[in-house]
Amino acid sequence: MKHLLSVDDLGGRPGIETILERSRYFLDVTRRDLPKVPALRAKTVVSLFYEDSTRTRLSFETAAKRLSADTMNFSVSTSSVKKGESLLDTVQTIEAMGVDAIVVRHAAAGAPYRIAQWTSASVINAGDGRHEHPTQALLDAFTLQRHRGPSLDGAHIVIVGDIAHSRVARSNVKLLAALGCRLTLVAPPTLMPESLVGWPVEARYDLDDVLREADVVYLLRIQRERIDAGLFPSLREYTARWGLTNERFARLKPDTLVMHPGPMNRGIEIADDVADAPQSLVTEQVANGVAVRMAVLFELLGAGGSVV
Ligand code: NCD
Repeated sequence: MKHLLSVDDLGGRPGIETILERSRYFLDVTRRDLPKVPALRAKTVVSLFYEDSTRTRLSFETAAKRLSADTMNFSVSTSSVKKGESLLDTVQTIEAMGVDAIVVRHAAAGAPYRIAQWTSASVINAGDGRHEHPTQALLDAFTLQRHRGPSLDGAHIVIVGDIAHSRVARSNVKLLAALGCRLTLVAPPTLMPESLVGWPVEARYDLDDVLREADVVYLLRIQRERIDAGLFPSLREYTARWGLTNERFARLKPDTLVMHPGPMNRGIEIADDVADAPQSLVTEQVANGVAVRMAVLFELLGAGGSVV
């Protein structure tokens, strides 16, 4: 694997399982007193984020540092992009510094594919438009495995919210389906993709109908900008019909797990108490993200070297 642009690059179930297995090793590394290995010494990883991010950016940076790679940080708001520099010129400038991996987040679907054509470095997609976010799906699967696994065969995952605009949903559907999960998408009709042809999912519109059958309720962020677009009437109505409120949470099976990729809108798609309940894996998802991204960076840049 040279680039990780989509879940499709992972090589199906065996490839996914290899990364998840290696993530277990790296999770142990992150828990050591000295949470660092020299595996990527002398490699340089640059993050190129054209969209805001807290956890994904910090997570990749931490992962690279724990593998002893050098890191560079490119922030659009303080760069020559503000002076009108094109994506191609920016990539060529970064390339000229000599980098081994570029971690890209961009509002345009497909931007990481273009960058991969322009550079000899490995490119990792950290979220492109509404297309994909493969490392988020890997860390979600990894987190689930630690609670229900290692086998996720037959686990029923209910993904709720703005599916239409969600790269997290797209990557998760592909990856969790490859691991044998049963997937149900729940959304208002205006936030469901227009066509689900080829998606290995069942679509439902009423969250209450599926609550009792869920092994995992995976909530997506309600993107407030969608209200302006008239895709649903009000936040209050969204919460009333599709939010995981305390009342709905009480109707879940006692062992149902709750997940969210962050950033959360507390009180909208997820009630405050639900976000902090023992069944909520939200902070664990973040912690596991570092280990999973270490595994991905090692896979792309480690060239079969030793991990210790
Ligand atoms: C998501 C993203 O940016 O795609 N967040 C993340 O990476 N953890 C989801 C979102 O912004 O809603």
